[in-house]
Parts: sequence; C-alpha cells; structure tokens
Amino acid sequence: MSTLLHVDSSVRATTNPNPDHNSISKNIAFRFIDTWRKNRPIDEYIYRDVGVNPPDFITQDWVGAVFTPEEKRTPAQKETLALSDKLIAEVVAADIILISSPMYNYGMPAQLKAWFDQIVRIDKTFDFDLARGDSPLQPLLSGKTLIIVTSSGEFGFQKGGIREGSNHLTPHLLTLSKYLGADTVYEIAAEYQEFGDDRHSRSVADAKYRAERIATELSFPVVATSPENVVKNL
Ligand SMILES: Cc1cc2nc3c(=O)[nH]c(=O)nc-3n(C[C@H](O)[C@H](O)[C@H](O)COP(=O)(O)O)c2cc1C
Repeated sequence: MSTLLHVDSSVRATTNPNPDHNSISKNIAFRFIDTWRKNRPIDEYIYRDVGVNPPDFITQDWVGAVFTPEEKRTPAQKETLALSDKLIAEVVAADIILISSPMYNYGMPAQLKAWFDQIVRIDKTFDFDLARGDSPLQPLLSGKTLIIVTSSGEFGFQKGGIREGSNHLTPHLLTLSKYLGADTVYEIAAEYQEFGDDRHSRSVADAKYRAERIATELSFPVVATSPENVVKNL
C-alpha cells in the first residue's frame, strides 16, 4: 500500500488553447503519474494544484494558534489551523511526494511557499529543543521519497552551471525536504523555456524520460519469484 501526494504549483494549466502556454513542470509531473499508473494503480492518490488553488498565507493569528497548547485552543484558533492540519495530514500519509515547481524570480512560486508555510509546523513536522544546542530544530517525519520537478526559462542552474548561484529554487526545496520526511530525493529539471529552441525541446524530452525512469523504478510492482519474472520485470 503506497500513498502518493502530488503537489503542482505552476499558475499555468497542463493544456491551453495555445500549447505554448502549457505548464512544462505540470506536464512532466503527469508523465511520472501516467507512467506509474501504467505499471500499477496508485493505492492512494492525493492531488493539490496550489498554483491554481493557493493555500492561505499564514497570519499573526495562525502563529498565535500554533503556539497555543492544543488543549487550550479556542474554536476560532482550531479553525485557523484547520487547513494546516489537513495539509499536514496529507504529507504524513504520503510515502511518495511529487512536487512540481516553475522557477519564478529564481525561487519557488509564492503559492508553493504558502503551502510549505502551512505544513512546516512545530510539534507536527519538527520539534524544537534548546537542549540540542545550536541545532534545536529536529524533523519529526522520515522514510519518504520526494521527487522534485522544476522548469525554468533560463538554463545553467545545476551544480557547476553558469547560473548555479542564482538557483534559489532547488536548494530551497532540498533544505525543506527534511521537514517533509524525505530521506530519498530525485530531481528532474527542464530548462531553456525562454529560448524555445532545440536545447529546450531536448531538455523537456530528457526530463520526461527521467520522470518515466524514476516512476518505473519506484512503482515496480513485482517481487521477483522466478527467473521468468526477473527477465520480464527488467
Ligand atoms: C512570473 C515569472 C517569473 C519567472 N522567473 C524566472 C526566473 O527567475 N528564471 C528563469 O529561468 N525563468 C523564469 N521564468 C520562466 C519560467 O520559469 C518558465 O516559463 C517555466 O517553464 C514555468 O513553469 P511552467 O512551464 O510549469 O509554468 C519566470 C516566469 C514567470 C511567469
């Protein structure tokens, strides 16, 4: 039994009257999902398009409610935290988390940051203890696999690339991944969207191929019981 949480965050749809406007990150993420489904059904699938339906931004009341002991929270405070509770429950339930994100202004969209702000929460996804010295925060979740899909207009954001220092998207997601409980992380990146040339087509094709490979690796259903199975499954 596996639960897959899929979070998309582009403001663009997967399909539009003008296909040039289709979200690249969402389409790569759906290539992963479609490949998985070809291999076997997803036991439990939770989908959130935070690009189209953004979570609320947190507020002072939200912080106040979080730091009020659970048994002392008023009905209004419980209501303030209701969305956060729901989003956290989805993360807790997931074994596999797929996050797709466009690069906006060299980082993640505000909508995806709003999602993280709702779920990275004390005593839910991390705890805090000054007895741990200079590292008081400790993640509470573990054992999950995270797949990060990104799309950017420019290129060279990977390690050693010409814009590595401007990449505030993947490093930020990797920093946050421990609060999702991700022990294993796969990265898939498409670049060059703004150039619209062969490099872009190749980059998207490579990213889709990688999405298929990772989905196959993770969804592989059959435990080999005979040589026949081993050959079939390879
Ligand atoms: C508001 C906005 C800001 C963007 N900022 C950047 C940027 O800082 N760097 C970059 O390489 N591309 C940038 N782009 C281009 C997008 O990353 C690119 O179009 C990407 O494919 C968007 O993801 P999507 O296709 O899934 O919607 C920006 C696009 C938008 C709409």
